[in-house]
Order: sequence, then C-alpha cells, then structure tokens
Amino acid sequence: MSRGPCTVTLIPGDGIGPEVVAAAVRVLTATGIAFEWETEQAGSTAIGEHGTALPPRVLDSVRRNKVALKGPTETPVGTGHRSVNVELRKQLDLYANLRPVQSLPGIKSRYDGVDLVVVRENTEDLYSGLEHVVVPGVVESLKIITEKASTRIARFAFDYARGHGRKKVTAVHKANIMKLSDGLFLDCCRKVAKDYEGIGYEEMIVDNACMQLVLDPSRFDVLLLENLYGDIVSDLCAGFVGGLGMAPGANIGADGALFEAVHGSAPDIAGKNLANPVAVILSGALMLDHLGEHDAAERVRRAVRSVLVEGRKLTRDLGGTAGTSEIAEAIASRL
Ligand code: NAI
Repeated sequence: MSRGPCTVTLIPGDGIGPEVVAAAVRVLTATGIAFEWETEQAGSTAIGEHGTALPPRVLDSVRRNKVALKGPTETPVGTGHRSVNVELRKQLDLYANLRPVQSLPGIKSRYDGVDLVVVRENTEDLYSGLEHVVVPGVVESLKIITEKASTRIARFAFDYARGHGRKKVTAVHKANIMKLSDGLFLDCCRKVAKDYEGIGYEEMIVDNACMQLVLDPSRFDVLLLENLYGDIVSDLCAGFVGGLGMAPGANIGADGALFEAVHGSAPDIAGKNLANPVAVILSGALMLDHLGEHDAAERVRRAVRSVLVEGRKLTRDLGGTAGTSEIAEAIASRL
C-alpha cells in the first residue's frame, strides 16, 4: 500500500544536534519511507534569528504535523532562557517520556542483558518552573503533583507494559519524606495498578531504586517515575548500555509526539563530527513505531546492531575512531 509522504517537524537544535539529526535523517531516508521534513530552529541557535529560543512557529509546526524529531537544545545554567524542552513538553502536553534501555551487541559495558523501560512524567513536579525569592537568601521552588497527571502517566506505563509484553511496573518515589506529593503519586499508581491484572506492581524509594539498579538492572521491567526522579534515573540507566550516545527517547501526548535522545547538546564535542548519532537514530526508530512503520523500525534497529557487532565504524565514545557521518553511512548502507 502506498501512502503520501509523512511530514515531520525537524528541530536540529544546538551543539551536536544538527550533526546527529542529519545522521538520523540519512538513516530514516534509507528505509525507503517517504518523509517531508519541516525544519524549524529552536534553542540558542534560534535566538539570533527569532529573538526567542522557542519561536511560536515551532509549536505551530508540531501541532500541525503531530510528530517531530528533535536534536538537543541548550539551557543556560542558573540564568538565561527557560528550557525549550520543558516548554515544548508543557505547551504540547507531551505528558509521557518513554526511554527504553536495552543492551546492544558490541558495546563495552559492565552490564549484559539490560532490558528495561523508563516512563517519566513530563509536565509537572519540580519542573513546573515556579520558583521565587522569599526573602534574600531564601528561595522557594514548588513541586506540583496532581492526581490528573499522576493517573494518566500511571495508565500510560501500564498500557505500555500490556502492549509490549512487559510483566512488572515499579513506581519509584520518596513518599516517606514527601508524604503529600509523592504520597498522591503513589495513591494514583496503586489505583491504576488494580485495573491491570497480570502485570505485577511494586513500589521502591528512589535512593534504594538507584542502588538496586546499579546492583542488578535485570530485576526491573518498567520504571514509573515523576519528572525529576525520571530525569536522573534515565541518565543512570543510559550508563548500563554504553552511555548517553546510545539512549533513545520519546515524548508522547494525546495529540502528538516528539522523539529525541536522552543526551544534551554536548558542547565539548560539537561541530567536530565526533558525536555518536545512535541515540537519535534509535529515537527515529521509535518514531517509525509510533507511525505504525514497525517493519522499518525493526530494520533500523537491525542495521544499528549489525554495525555495532562488526565494530569497524564506531564513534570515539564507543572505543572507535569513526565520525558521526561515517557510522550513519554504515547504518544507512545496511538498509
Ligand atoms: P550532555 O548530554 O550534553 O553531555 C554529557 C557528556 O556526554 C559530555 O561529555 C558529552 O560529550 C557526552 N555526550 C553526550 N551526548 C553524546 C553523544 N551523542 N556522543 C558522544 N558523547 C556524548 O549533558 P550536559 O553537558 O549536562 O548538557 C549540555 C547542554 O545540553 C546543557 O545546556 C543542557 O541543558 C542541554 N541538555 C539538553 C537536553 C535536550 O535537549 N533533550 C537533554 C540534556 C541536556
């Protein structure tokens, strides 16, 4: 069956973003699926031309196309513009952040056979951006947890588990200390869990969860977390499978989805053709799944695995000497 081209908003972003996004476009094009890329600037690179890190046309484009592939965007520490990512996720209500973490062949890691999924709430918690100075020397940062957002992220995690043959959901929290906020999150998770017979449910305090993960990640299946814990734990999990260059991600809402790697703009290696594009390429595979192109998604993953096993075109972070464009070309050529 032939369909018209699929229009995707493409946000190259900052730092290594344009390099790794170009690599992903190369690979996705090699699947034979017809894409039309609507390129939009966001992040620090957009400020010069548009006067803002998140021009309204970016949001318009994603709203129209309902699907986007994004490179990392820079967020200044302490001062400067607000995070483009947080804004995109909030404005487009991309409430679920999905980060599958799977060991890949040919990657040196202390861990084998890791196969877990991090589901992170994306719209509230301490990322609400509600901070103010109470009196000089004292600031307040508000952690917002709602029944609505907690229930829908829990439902997302369980639906994902059911749809992907996963056996257990672990809700990660600190309700021993934050009894009201994390307590509400847990209440919602428990209520939702009752609707999913056959899928196990457990709860774990976040500090213990980090230790258990490091000791034995194979005891986990789907991790369900609020925004901040999810952010931290997904980087930790990326470390099991070869680091940030290998960890894909998706931000999913009721009315659209945005695919991007877990990693940031890596200013230390930007513009040098050194960045590992695999995380963005695998994010592209998640996008193909989202578009119903499961066969193409699987072919991309197979091509990635094959290049990793062969080991001749690996980037520096994987112990090789190949550049971003070379590994992308090697993956594309296997499609
Ligand atoms: P980072 O992820 O950019 O870099 C951390 C370390 O990992 C660096 O040593 C970097 O060279 C390495 N690294 C990251 N991605 C890599 C890749 N694909 N290949 C090889 N090495 C890679 O994190 P950092 O330094 O904390 O943040 C830099 C900027 O990125 C900040 O402005 C931050 O706000 C932003 N950021 C953006 C994200 C997004 O747009 N989704 C996510 C995380 C951070």
